[in-house]
Amino acid sequence: MTVYRGTFVDTPLSPFKGHHLRADQDAAVLVRDGVIAARGPADDLLRDHPADEVVDLTGGLVLPGFVDTHVHFPQVRAIGGLGMPLLDWLERCALPEEARLADTTYAAGVAADFLDGLARAGTTTALVFGSHFAGAVDALFEEATRVGLRITSGLVLSDRILRADLFTDPDRAYAEGAELAKRWHGAGNPAGRTRYAVTPRFSLSCTDPLLESAGALLRDVPDAWFTSHINENPEEIRGVRDLFGCDYATTYDKHDLLGPRSVLAHDVHPTRGELRLMSQRGVAVAHCPTSNAALGSGLFSLGAHLAYGVRVALGSDVGAGTGFSLFKEGLQAYFCQQLQGRDGHRLTAGHLLHLATAAGADALGLADVIGDFEVGKEYDALWLRPEPGTTLDVALRHADSPDDALAKAFALATPADVRQTWVAGSPIRQQTSRGGDPDD
Ligand code: GUN
Ligand code: ZN
Repeated sequence: MTVYRGTFVDTPLSPFKGHHLRADQDAAVLVRDGVIAARGPADDLLRDHPADEVVDLTGGLVLPGFVDTHVHFPQVRAIGGLGMPLLDWLERCALPEEARLADTTYAAGVAADFLDGLARAGTTTALVFGSHFAGAVDALFEEATRVGLRITSGLVLSDRILRADLFTDPDRAYAEGAELAKRWHGAGNPAGRTRYAVTPRFSLSCTDPLLESAGALLRDVPDAWFTSHINENPEEIRGVRDLFGCDYATTYDKHDLLGPRSVLAHDVHPTRGELRLMSQRGVAVAHCPTSNAALGSGLFSLGAHLAYGVRVALGSDVGAGTGFSLFKEGLQAYFCQQLQGRDGHRLTAGHLLHLATAAGADALGLADVIGDFEVGKEYDALWLRPEPGTTLDVALRHADSPDDALAKAFALATPADVRQTWVAGSPIRQQTSRGGDPDD
């Protein structure tokens, strides 16, 4: 057993329901076989467990591992394409890079960069948009298994409008998806950290027969996940209506793709009818604020989603999003609400932490396993420990409350400040100070 000692901050009860964040200074958690077996004041736990290893995480903050509910694996090398709206950005920045993943060796390198980027940012769990190529999706799952992150992902599907080298067809999409699910989902996944998600790119690039085959696969793979995009950009939304003659949510719903294991990214421009439908189906929405700002997609209406009872979590949406850090996404989510004046939702640092952790765990059906430091949950954590003398270090040392410290973390933290991450008590990577990576 291992005792971790430090300042633990989490949100076991939702700030969106009026609860406050929980912050325990000079506390400890006892981890047995990856699971939190006890927690309490450090002195008490150390006295009760004198023989166990102690990991000293004092200084900085220990937070639950971040949960990124929308991020594109093939786009890690395409981050930073500014100045374009969605459809131009796809054509000029994202898709040329995605086409390169036809080469599985290239894809394996991208998978390594991608998972390293997640871990460095403190993200321990992610719902990942895979690749249009099955070999690349295998490469992602193989690397995820090696690194130890919790990854749900799948083959990305398209059969119109985008560049033709990314197209599939309904039969091939089903067959390749079923094979991947056999290898990485359920019984094919003994460590339990990988799962399969049926992943049509977006309705704009999918015919009804392709979406129908996606629905069949979702039915046939027990407990599979579904993810796609929705209502991101006005031109895209007009295109979907012209092609299908119905609203965006219905294009998925008519193929039985919407349910409690469905996560739709963006939803910047929903109708009331769509919000009602998503709420009825139990869908969760991945809010991706840096992407929405970078592509000029619009301002997310968090209040409307909450009012309709649609669950919301955070996504980095790399590579339209500007990096893997959910500290940055949380800050941008805050800006996005501030910019909406009286229509915006007032967010505290506790809300931001909840969106980046427990809300993500809930959206991905993992609320019983991860998301906070309750006894019985698996120890997925990040240690935020900035270099002495950095502005974040100064700010944390002068914070006058845990809320204040957390707000300073969201304002200032970058992946360079994440010293260590754990999944189920196993260290994923340890960042040494000032370069010099033990893994290099
Ligand atoms: N819609 C369809 N594909 C994409 C993508 O790769 N990124 C974003 N932001 N939206 C999309
Ligand atoms: Zn996306």
